[in-house]
Amino acid sequence: MNYAFTYKMYFKANLLYQRLNLLFRRCHSERRDNPSFDPIKFIQGNTEISTNHMTPEIKLHLITPRCALWDSGADQCLVSDPFWAFYWPGGQVLTRYILDHGSVVKDKSVLDVGSGCGASAIAAAMRGARRVLANDIDPVAAAAMKMNAKLNSVNLETSTDNLIGEGLHQWDVVFLGDMFYDEEFASTVSDWLKTLKQSNSSCQILIGDPGRFSLEEHPVKSLLFRVAEYELDEVCRRENNGLTLGGVWAYDPTRTMK
Ligand SMILES: C[S@@+](CC[C@H](N)C(=O)[O-])C[C@H]1O[C@@H](n2cnc3c(N)ncnc32)[C@H](O)[C@@H]1O
Repeated sequence: MNYAFTYKMYFKANLLYQRLNLLFRRCHSERRDNPSFDPIKFIQGNTEISTNHMTPEIKLHLITPRCALWDSGADQCLVSDPFWAFYWPGGQVLTRYILDHGSVVKDKSVLDVGSGCGASAIAAAMRGARRVLANDIDPVAAAAMKMNAKLNSVNLETSTDNLIGEGLHQWDVVFLGDMFYDEEFASTVSDWLKTLKQSNSSCQILIGDPGRFSLEEHPVKSLLFRVAEYELDEVCRRENNGLTLGGVWAYDPTRTMK
């Protein structure tokens, strides 16, 4: 199975979060066992700088159809799940929204959970956020986020801690780009959002999602209201068979009008 195919399968099939966790654990331990693994060299050698997405203002190191890994087998690669090397549709629409509505983040402290390539965090920094933390449990993603931030001449803090479940009080805005990709994980995330909002009611929580089943069918959907909707561009539609639209949602359990 090649990476492009694996990537599409995640969109189409919503593979189980346990499987993701297993894969992450496996690829992390592979890297720990390989002291010569250099994420920066890996990213430089296996991606190209792309603006061929819905936020062309932002340059990103991505695996594209012109990269060898797009068609190669998983056994030919040192990292087993380079999610940071793809720009997910939920992240693309969320980032588009931030670039188009900079006042949402201007002078604010922003946390981007599951940041992947870091695009949403970079958009926040570009639009004048006071502090931006790009968080992803994958250490290679952290390297990619730093490289992408440098490419776009912005400063980000990065972290690989698992913050989902943690009590966080210091953030004005929290982003979740395409994080409702699995039913069980959707419940974990929505439980966390509930406590996050209870402990910090002024925190604005923004979710980008292209209509995934795990979100559409989840009870948390009734606590979201849509702040924007974008048509996915041609490249994004082609790479994500069946998806055409992406919504940006605000999590607000107090609001009744949807
Ligand atoms: C579907 S990708 C979305 C990436 C990015 N937000 C985007 O839209 O392009 C999900 C990302 O979440 C990260 N992730 C999974 N579980 C996480 C957790 N508990 N905390 C932080 N990141 C996590 C993965 O490493 C992956 O990069």
